[in-house]
Amino acid sequence: MYGSILDTIGTPLIQISSPEGATVAAKVEAFNPGGSAKDRPALAMIEAAEREGLLEPGDAVVEPTSGNTGIGLAIAAAARNYDLTIVLPDSMSEERRRLLRAYGAEIELVSGEMTDARERADEIVAETGAVQLGQFENPANAEAHYRTTAPEIIEAVEGREIDALVVGVGTGGTITGTGRRLKEEFPAMDVIAVEPETNAVLSTGTPGKDEFQGMGAGFVSELLDIELLDSIETVPLEEAETECRRLAREEGILVGQSSGAVSVASRRVAKRLAQPELNCPEAPDMSGLTADGGLESGFDDCPLVVTIFPDSGERYLSTGLFD
Ligand SMILES: Cc1ncc(COP(=O)(O)O)c(C=O)c1O
Repeated sequence: MYGSILDTIGTPLIQISSPEGATVAAKVEAFNPGGSAKDRPALAMIEAAEREGLLEPGDAVVEPTSGNTGIGLAIAAAARNYDLTIVLPDSMSEERRRLLRAYGAEIELVSGEMTDARERADEIVAETGAVQLGQFENPANAEAHYRTTAPEIIEAVEGREIDALVVGVGTGGTITGTGRRLKEEFPAMDVIAVEPETNAVLSTGTPGKDEFQGMGAGFVSELLDIELLDSIETVPLEEAETECRRLAREEGILVGQSSGAVSVASRRVAKRLAQPELNCPEAPDMSGLTADGGLESGFDDCPLVVTIFPDSGERYLSTGLFD
């Protein structure tokens, strides 16, 4: 029996359809209690603030987020008795707003982008003295992935070498924390960042506009460790959304826009690494799996690309993504 909903954070690594001669596996973060990868940093940032004496139960917390960090914080705030206000760009999906309210968080909608939400959150801090956890700067964000996401991946691959890690970038917490820990384990592994094609600030140095929810902050986050990146892939929204529909209809995996984008990028990377002569198993062909669902050791030599699907497709139903 778990002591709290917060103890259930953790997700499976699942093999997905892969180009011939390579394996792509996705960590499906929708399995977390709040339905996204952000449950990890949300809890970690609250615990770090409690340890540092900045927060105690009953205090007011405010955070600008594209939604998923807010939902993770709302769960932690409900379970640990904090008064939470989330500042959300009004372009974010209806599901995000409703979920936040369901967990008892206050929402302040701002027109514009994440940068506008950050400015408004700063004002609320100045006006009310609420504590802002600052996911774009807070080292606990990346550390959460270093301590939890990466070790879960290492355990799941059961000794197999990972050749590439492909991750979408918002705050940079997921790629920095997971990439750092996995590079310690697999020094030859490439870390590949994914960003929206029309807001490719990492590739071009110039911000643009995009309609991805969560991926593509429009600025280079302080938390992102640029030194860790071996290359960057950009993906257009339409291609990412087509891939979301394919993943749902062909593989039974219901995920959001940024997951579609990293899936597209992972397949590109896997094609470059592929060694067709190795006859690697194609998912969802179960013949390559052991009785307990692990990958059979005979495929150790197949190039392995690991990616992270940040959230659930249920969070996008009202946008028409799956219609
Ligand atoms: C759906 C989605 N994808 C990708 C990301 C990017 O993750 P990170 O902030 O760790 O870079 C986020 C962050 O909020 C997100 O909500």
